[in-house]
Amino acid sequence: MPSKKIKNVYFLEKLPSLNSICGSAFVICDQKLKSQIQNWCKGQKVYFVQAGERLKDLNQFALHTKNILKSISKAPQAPSAFIGVGGGSVTDFTGFFSSIYKRGKPVYYIPTTLLSAVDASHGGKTALNVSSVKNVLGTYHFPQKVFIIKHLFQGIKSSEVFSAYGELIKIALIHNISLYESLKQQSKPSFDHFWKVMPSAIKSKLELVEKDPFEKKSVRRFLNLGHTLGHCFESYHKIPHGRAVAMGTLFALHWSADKKFISSSLYSETQNLIKHYIKVSSILKIPLVRLKKLLRQDKKSISSGKIEFVFIKGIGKPFIKTVSIDDIVQFYKKYYL
Ligand SMILES: NC(=O)c1ccc[n+]([C@@H]2O[C@H](COP(=O)([O-])OP(=O)(O)OC[C@H]3O[C@@H](n4cnc5c(N)ncnc54)[C@H](O)[C@@H]3O)[C@@H](O)[C@H]2O)c1
Ligand SMILES: [Zn+2]
Repeated sequence: MPSKKIKNVYFLEKLPSLNSICGSAFVICDQKLKSQIQNWCKGQKVYFVQAGERLKDLNQFALHTKNILKSISKAPQAPSAFIGVGGGSVTDFTGFFSSIYKRGKPVYYIPTTLLSAVDASHGGKTALNVSSVKNVLGTYHFPQKVFIIKHLFQGIKSSEVFSAYGELIKIALIHNISLYESLKQQSKPSFDHFWKVMPSAIKSKLELVEKDPFEKKSVRRFLNLGHTLGHCFESYHKIPHGRAVAMGTLFALHWSADKKFISSSLYSETQNLIKHYIKVSSILKIPLVRLKKLLRQDKKSISSGKIEFVFIKGIGKPFIKTVSIDDIVQFYKKYYL
């Protein structure tokens, strides 16, 4: 019996047997988890990968695809589903692969980083990068089930815990006032604290996705808070995704305050919250020419020089406004260069 379940997300004490998940599974797993899963998947096809942005690179994808197809061809039967075990890079990769292999096979996720447990495993977005352009290729392919198993997280570093707070705080800001209020108590950022509040953040993400699964309305786009600048920091400085999102959120909050969408006291409260949990002291520098180029490549870029930017006008009150890339760059130049 699951200790907890939110929609298709199961919090379990131990890994469910492969047979109970699906008939014949093909597992794609972060090689760092090898020793923890090898008994669980004995006798099954498992493909180990090195996690990270390189795994999501299109050129690497072609090489991995050849290897996976070779491995599948040696098995007695073709896989009926794929299981991705790892952080967000592994779930994005496995999701993308399973969405196009034989025009799509079911996928299950077993996240092993807090960032993938709270965010990347949910919502059905899969993604690959092309050169430095993040997530430019992608599909919607919703996981059948997500299994979150505490003991698999025992090896994660504290820097990864801080980074995951980036997505958690983003969710609180756009859709979860009670989570925001509880974070305001400024508990010590830690694995245990994150674990306690994570289900509430997952529930919020699933609610937003359910209202707008294919991002046809603005609801799902609210999840992009902090990501316009965040992806630029991530690509240029090669910093973890959640940390980059936290910096992008600081920028969005500052701009929201500058435009008087939020008060200066709410700005300083939210800024302190992010700095407390993520240990981000300031927004990183990017040369303006590079920043413009990265912004033009952004998925939220809608037409020449325009971008859909997520602002907030209060906790739980995000909204989207079309701005020009020049406006973003001018604000960045004024305060951060
Ligand atoms: N699809 C989505 O909706 C979505 C949402 C948010 C983020 N993402 C993507 O997720 C990626 C970032 O996720 P991430 O930080 O989990 O990435 P990751 O998969 O690169 O993992 C980060 C590091 O943690 C290591 N790791 C994983 N599990 C571990 C464990 N249990 N113990 C020790 N080390 C472990 C990995 O080997 C890697 O070095 C980005 O590519 C981002 O674009 C996708
Ligand atoms: Zn994100």
